Amino acid sequence: MKIKIAPSILASDFSKLGETVRLLEQNGADYVHCDVMDGNFVPPITFGAQAVKAMRPHTRLPLDCHLMVTSPRSRVEEFIGAGADIITAHVEADADILSTLAYIRSRGCKASAVVNPATAVEELFPACEIADMVLVMSVVPGWGGQKFIPETLKKIEKLRDRCVKIGRGELDIEVDGGVTEANVRDVIAAGANVIVAGSAVFRSPDMAETIRSLRG
Ligand code: DX5
Ligand code: ZN
Repeated sequence: MKIKIAPSILASDFSKLGETVRLLEQNGADYVHCDVMDGNFVPPITFGAQAVKAMRPHTRLPLDCHLMVTSPRSRVEEFIGAGADIITAHVEADADILSTLAYIRSRGCKASAVVNPATAVEELFPACEIADMVLVMSVVPGWGGQKFIPETLKKIEKLRDRCVKIGRGELDIEVDGGVTEANVRDVIAAGANVIVAGSAVFRSPDMAETIRSLRG
Protein backbone atom coordinates (compact mmCIF):
# COMPACT_ATOMS: atom_id res chain seq x y z
CA MET A 1 0.00 0.00 0.00
CA LYS A 2 1.10 3.58 -0.62
CA ILE A 3 2.60 5.09 2.53
CA LYS A 4 1.25 8.61 3.07
CA ILE A 5 2.79 11.19 5.39
CA ALA A 6 0.43 13.59 7.16
CA PRO A 7 2.43 16.19 9.12
CA SER A 8 0.44 17.64 12.02
CA ILE A 9 0.48 21.44 12.05
CA LEU A 10 -0.10 21.34 15.80
CA ALA A 11 3.70 21.28 16.05
CA SER A 12 4.10 24.27 13.72
CA ASP A 13 4.22 28.06 14.29
CA PHE A 14 0.54 29.06 14.22
CA SER A 15 1.46 32.59 13.16
CA LYS A 16 2.57 31.16 9.79
CA LEU A 17 -0.11 28.63 8.80
CA GLY A 18 -0.29 29.65 5.14
CA GLU A 19 3.48 29.50 4.72
CA THR A 20 3.59 26.20 6.62
CA VAL A 21 1.14 24.38 4.38
CA ARG A 22 2.96 25.68 1.28
CA LEU A 23 6.21 24.37 2.77
CA LEU A 24 4.66 20.96 3.51
CA GLU A 25 3.55 20.65 -0.10
CA GLN A 26 6.98 21.71 -1.39
CA ASN A 27 8.65 19.18 0.91
CA GLY A 28 6.64 16.18 -0.24
CA ALA A 29 3.90 15.73 2.39
CA ASP A 30 0.78 13.85 1.29
CA TYR A 31 -1.76 15.41 3.69
CA VAL A 32 -1.95 18.34 6.09
CA HIS A 33 -3.12 16.92 9.43
CA CYS A 34 -5.23 19.58 11.18
CA ASP A 35 -5.71 18.94 14.90
CA VAL A 36 -8.98 20.62 15.86
CA MET A 37 -9.49 20.74 19.62
CA ASP A 38 -12.52 22.29 21.35
CA GLY A 39 -11.28 22.53 24.94
CA ASN A 40 -14.04 20.13 25.94
CA PHE A 41 -13.39 16.73 24.38
CA VAL A 42 -9.71 17.48 25.13
CA PRO A 43 -8.48 20.28 27.46
CA PRO A 44 -6.63 22.46 24.91
CA ILE A 45 -8.30 24.66 22.31
CA THR A 46 -6.34 24.89 19.04
CA PHE A 47 -8.31 26.17 16.04
CA GLY A 48 -11.54 25.63 14.13
CA ALA A 49 -12.99 25.77 10.64
CA GLN A 50 -11.94 29.40 10.15
CA ALA A 51 -8.27 28.42 10.33
CA VAL A 52 -8.84 25.51 7.94
CA LYS A 53 -10.57 27.95 5.55
CA ALA A 54 -7.58 30.30 5.81
CA MET A 55 -5.15 27.48 4.96
CA ARG A 56 -7.24 26.14 2.08
CA PRO A 57 -6.08 28.48 -0.72
CA HIS A 58 -2.39 27.94 0.15
CA THR A 59 -2.15 24.25 -0.72
CA ARG A 60 -3.58 21.60 -2.97
CA LEU A 61 -2.77 18.93 -0.36
CA PRO A 62 -5.76 17.18 1.21
CA LEU A 63 -6.69 18.79 4.55
CA ASP A 64 -7.02 15.88 6.97
CA CYS A 65 -9.16 17.31 9.81
CA HIS A 66 -8.93 15.39 13.09
CA LEU A 67 -11.89 16.63 15.13
CA MET A 68 -11.16 16.27 18.82
CA VAL A 69 -14.52 17.79 19.62
CA THR A 70 -17.52 16.81 21.72
CA SER A 71 -20.13 16.65 18.97
CA PRO A 72 -18.39 16.06 15.64
CA ARG A 73 -21.68 15.59 13.75
CA SER A 74 -22.64 19.22 14.46
CA ARG A 75 -19.29 20.43 13.11
CA VAL A 76 -19.31 18.59 9.77
CA GLU A 77 -20.93 21.34 7.66
CA GLU A 78 -18.54 24.09 8.76
CA PHE A 79 -15.47 21.97 8.02
CA ILE A 80 -16.80 20.91 4.64
CA GLY A 81 -17.48 24.57 3.91
CA ALA A 82 -13.92 25.40 4.98
CA GLY A 83 -12.49 22.96 2.45
CA ALA A 84 -11.73 19.86 4.51
CA ASP A 85 -10.98 16.78 2.39
CA ILE A 86 -11.09 14.24 5.22
CA ILE A 87 -13.05 14.60 8.46
CA THR A 88 -12.15 12.29 11.32
CA ALA A 89 -14.57 11.83 14.23
CA HIS A 90 -13.85 10.16 17.56
CA VAL A 91 -15.84 7.03 18.36
CA GLU A 92 -15.77 8.22 22.00
CA ALA A 93 -17.47 11.50 21.09
CA ASP A 94 -20.24 10.22 18.90
CA ALA A 95 -22.86 7.69 19.91
CA ASP A 96 -23.84 7.33 16.30
CA ILE A 97 -20.48 7.28 14.54
CA LEU A 98 -21.80 5.31 11.56
CA SER A 99 -24.45 7.91 10.77
CA THR A 100 -21.86 10.67 11.12
CA LEU A 101 -19.56 8.85 8.70
CA ALA A 102 -22.43 8.31 6.27
CA TYR A 103 -23.37 11.99 6.49
CA ILE A 104 -19.80 13.16 5.85
CA ARG A 105 -19.60 10.88 2.81
CA SER A 106 -23.02 12.00 1.56
CA ARG A 107 -21.58 15.53 1.40
CA GLY A 108 -18.71 14.39 -0.84
CA CYS A 109 -16.04 14.48 1.86
CA LYS A 110 -13.92 11.52 2.99
CA ALA A 111 -15.00 10.13 6.37
CA SER A 112 -12.77 8.64 9.02
CA ALA A 113 -13.24 7.30 12.56
CA VAL A 114 -10.68 7.28 15.37
CA VAL A 115 -10.20 5.54 18.72
CA ASN A 116 -8.19 6.71 21.72
CA PRO A 117 -5.50 4.55 23.31
CA ALA A 118 -7.87 3.39 26.07
CA THR A 119 -10.60 2.37 23.64
CA ALA A 120 -10.69 -1.20 22.29
CA VAL A 121 -9.86 -1.35 18.59
CA GLU A 122 -12.98 -3.50 18.07
CA GLU A 123 -14.95 -0.24 18.55
CA LEU A 124 -13.64 0.73 15.10
CA PHE A 125 -14.72 -2.49 13.39
CA PRO A 126 -18.20 -1.27 12.34
CA ALA A 127 -16.63 1.88 10.88
CA CYS A 128 -14.26 -0.28 8.78
CA GLU A 129 -17.27 -1.30 6.69
CA ILE A 130 -18.03 2.22 5.43
CA ALA A 131 -15.21 4.63 6.29
CA ASP A 132 -12.63 6.00 3.85
CA MET A 133 -9.98 5.77 6.57
CA VAL A 134 -9.66 4.68 10.21
CA LEU A 135 -7.30 6.24 12.74
CA VAL A 136 -5.63 4.75 15.81
CA MET A 137 -4.35 7.22 18.40
CA SER A 138 -0.92 6.25 19.67
CA VAL A 139 -0.94 9.00 22.31
CA VAL A 140 -3.65 10.43 24.53
CA PRO A 141 -5.22 13.19 22.40
CA GLY A 142 -4.64 16.85 23.24
CA TRP A 143 -0.92 17.43 22.88
CA GLY A 144 1.92 16.93 20.44
CA GLY A 145 5.40 15.76 21.40
CA GLN A 146 4.27 12.80 23.53
CA LYS A 147 5.83 9.32 23.58
CA PHE A 148 4.41 6.63 21.28
CA ILE A 149 2.33 4.04 23.20
CA PRO A 150 3.76 0.65 22.07
CA GLU A 151 0.51 -1.26 22.78
CA THR A 152 -0.84 0.57 19.72
CA LEU A 153 1.04 -1.82 17.42
CA LYS A 154 -1.22 -4.73 18.42
CA LYS A 155 -4.31 -2.59 17.75
CA ILE A 156 -3.05 -1.74 14.26
CA GLU A 157 -2.42 -5.41 13.49
CA LYS A 158 -5.93 -6.38 14.64
CA LEU A 159 -7.42 -3.54 12.59
CA ARG A 160 -5.56 -4.49 9.39
CA ASP A 161 -6.56 -8.13 9.90
CA ARG A 162 -10.19 -7.07 10.29
CA CYS A 163 -10.05 -4.96 7.10
CA VAL A 164 -8.63 -7.92 5.16
CA LYS A 165 -11.27 -10.23 6.64
CA ILE A 166 -14.18 -8.03 5.48
CA GLY A 167 -12.65 -7.54 2.03
CA ARG A 168 -11.39 -4.00 2.71
CA GLY A 169 -7.71 -4.90 2.94
CA GLU A 170 -6.77 -1.66 1.15
CA LEU A 171 -8.51 0.64 3.67
CA ASP A 172 -6.24 3.49 4.83
CA ILE A 173 -5.18 3.04 8.45
CA GLU A 174 -3.73 6.21 9.96
CA VAL A 175 -1.66 6.32 13.17
CA ASP A 176 -1.35 9.50 15.14
CA GLY A 177 0.96 10.49 17.95
CA GLY A 178 4.59 10.02 18.87
CA VAL A 179 5.59 8.57 15.51
CA THR A 180 9.23 9.21 14.62
CA GLU A 181 11.87 7.80 12.31
CA ALA A 182 12.80 5.46 15.18
CA ASN A 183 9.42 3.68 15.39
CA VAL A 184 7.76 4.29 12.01
CA ARG A 185 9.02 1.00 10.51
CA ASP A 186 7.25 -0.95 13.28
CA VAL A 187 4.09 1.12 12.76
CA ILE A 188 4.07 0.36 9.01
CA ALA A 189 4.96 -3.31 9.56
CA ALA A 190 1.94 -3.57 11.90
CA GLY A 191 -0.31 -2.47 9.03
CA ALA A 192 -0.63 1.33 9.10
CA ASN A 193 -0.10 3.24 5.85
CA VAL A 194 -0.97 6.85 6.77
CA ILE A 195 1.51 8.36 9.21
CA VAL A 196 0.80 11.49 11.24
CA ALA A 197 3.96 13.19 12.46
CA GLY A 198 4.06 16.58 14.14
CA SER A 199 7.22 17.00 16.19
CA ALA A 200 9.27 14.62 13.99
CA VAL A 201 8.58 16.83 10.95
CA PHE A 202 8.57 20.32 12.44
CA ARG A 203 11.59 19.78 14.69
CA SER A 204 13.60 18.39 11.78
CA PRO A 205 16.49 20.41 10.31
CA ASP A 206 15.55 18.95 6.91
CA MET A 207 11.76 18.57 6.49
CA ALA A 208 11.95 16.96 3.04
CA GLU A 209 14.50 14.39 4.23
CA THR A 210 12.42 13.52 7.31
CA ILE A 211 9.25 13.10 5.22
CA ARG A 212 11.19 10.90 2.79
CA SER A 213 12.65 8.81 5.56
CA LEU A 214 9.29 8.41 7.34
CA ARG A 215 7.84 7.13 4.07
CA GLY A 216 10.71 4.64 3.76
C1 DX5 B 1 -2.68 14.86 19.42
C2 DX5 B 1 -2.83 15.02 17.91
C3 DX5 B 1 -1.66 14.51 17.14
C4 DX5 B 1 -0.33 15.18 17.50
C5 DX5 B 1 0.81 14.48 16.83
O1 DX5 B 1 -3.92 15.08 20.03
O2 DX5 B 1 -3.99 14.36 17.45
O3 DX5 B 1 -1.92 14.67 15.74
O4 DX5 B 1 -0.38 16.52 17.07
O5 DX5 B 1 1.99 15.16 17.17
P1 DX5 B 1 3.36 14.34 17.45
O6 DX5 B 1 3.69 13.68 16.14
O7 DX5 B 1 4.33 15.42 17.84
O8 DX5 B 1 3.07 13.36 18.52
ZN1 ZN C 1 -4.22 14.31 15.27
